[in-house]
Amino acid sequence: MKHLLNTKDLRLDEALLILDTAEAMAETQSRQMKKLPALRGRTVVNLFFEDSTRTRISFEAAAKRLSADVINFSGKGSSVSKGESLKDTAQTLNAMGIDAVVIRHSASGAPQRLAETDWIDVPILNAGDGAHQHPTQALLDAFTMRRWLLGGGAAVPAGTDLAGKKVAIVGDILHSRVVRSNVDLLTTLGAEVTVVGPPTLMPVGAESWPATITYDLDGVIEDLDALMMLRVQYERMAGGGYFPSPAEYSRIYGLDADRLARLPEHAIVMHPGPMNRGLEISSEAADSVRSVVLDQVANGVYVRMAALYLLLASDEGSLS
Ligand code: NCD
Repeated sequence: MKHLLNTKDLRLDEALLILDTAEAMAETQSRQMKKLPALRGRTVVNLFFEDSTRTRISFEAAAKRLSADVINFSGKGSSVSKGESLKDTAQTLNAMGIDAVVIRHSASGAPQRLAETDWIDVPILNAGDGAHQHPTQALLDAFTMRRWLLGGGAAVPAGTDLAGKKVAIVGDILHSRVVRSNVDLLTTLGAEVTVVGPPTLMPVGAESWPATITYDLDGVIEDLDALMMLRVQYERMAGGGYFPSPAEYSRIYGLDADRLARLPEHAIVMHPGPMNRGLEISSEAADSVRSVVLDQVANGVYVRMAALYLLLASDEGSLS
């Protein structure tokens, strides 16, 4: 594999290689000197056409800890707002001799397009495209599950999968690239995935996903290893009408103190961020000891270091 575009095409051995490499990266990050020389002299461009806080900063931190130079490009305030096409932007970057592109775009398939055309000939890493895929998010989620469900929060042995683990992903399924990437990756890793949300936020075709679909959170909450809450993506809901009111949404699909108490004792609570506190997750749940939300953020840096390293620096150990 030359690029990291989705988790659907990621084979089990490739997924485990990234997760195991991320464990090796994590180990280096507990040292006082966090910077590794692996990508010295290489330039990574963060090409963000959509808003982002944690994903952009995480990719930047990951590239810098590997000693790469990082150029941050945001669609706003650039020639994109003058109407420049993705093609011209890509060709411009190519002419500048950059070595990898991390791209977030509102159009599903934009990263794939960069990878397939000859506009630019470097590894492409998808940092989220439309409602399609967000592979590094799913990888950091799987990394976090491996550690908390099988390693007591600490490093796990190489090759650890998630066989038989029960994961529910809850909320705005329709607009979520996180759920699509997670369903694909978790299935490859052997987990049993249940997707939960209101019928209005369940996409057409979800029944063909390798997951169980339900509208009843209370029916599954007592038998889970991990509960992942998704953000209600208001910015993609022009016109509204997806649910009667925020209070009604919270009552049926929110993780509140009562539902938190009904989770099995060992189960973890996850959220990709940013969180709508009080809507899909209460502060009590978000800040509880079950919540691994900040571990997810920390682990994102290790996973992105691993992906950049495997795509740019390692030769025969790379994703092939
Ligand atoms: C997610 C995204 O952008 O898809 N956030 C993230 O990357 N941490 C989920 C979201 O925006 O709700």
